[in-house]
Amino acid sequence: MPPVPVYYYSSVSNLTGRFAAALARDGREVRSLADAEVRRSEPDGPWVLLTPSYKAGNRDQVTLPAPVRAFLRSPVTRRRLVGIIGSGNRNFGEFYQAAARELSRASGRPVLFEFELSGTPEDLERCEDILESLDAALAGRAVT
Ligand SMILES: Cc1cc2nc3c(=O)[nH]c(=O)nc-3n(C[C@H](O)[C@H](O)[C@H](O)COP(=O)(O)O)c2cc1C
Repeated sequence: MPPVPVYYYSSVSNLTGRFAAALARDGREVRSLADAEVRRSEPDGPWVLLTPSYKAGNRDQVTLPAPVRAFLRSPVTRRRLVGIIGSGNRNFGEFYQAAARELSRASGRPVLFEFELSGTPEDLERCEDILESLDAALAGRAVT
């Protein structure tokens, strides 16, 4: 089985995008949910979501970016999600990583890794290790 693909969303500031691009250097498939064609597709096996949190305005507002919510509308896509990586900023206090953590609670999938902004080289290394362990765990598992 090929390395588990990472689907990510990044806004114009592209902080998450830089981290995603670094993950892709390892040969991992990395796909942007800013691309409408990618959003319309369904992963053909297990996949990992990498998302920033975006809180705007009031306390009840959802923090998961709209393109990520659109992608998750497909039940097949939701079923094949195996883990979540969050990017955020600790300045947001109690809302730090709210999107990744709320989706984890709602979906029952684990938050695999969290980092701030575009991450450090150590973050990248740690995240690559976690994804490689996931690849190994998924190898041999039947695709559903
Ligand atoms: C308007 C706005 C709201 C944000 N809300 C949160 C938040 O609720 N929690 C958090 O951890 N980070 C929050 N952040 C920080 C971003 O998630 C973080 O900067 C991330 O790296 C942005 O990724 P991107 O540049 O790929 O879009 C917010 C940033 C902005 C500009």
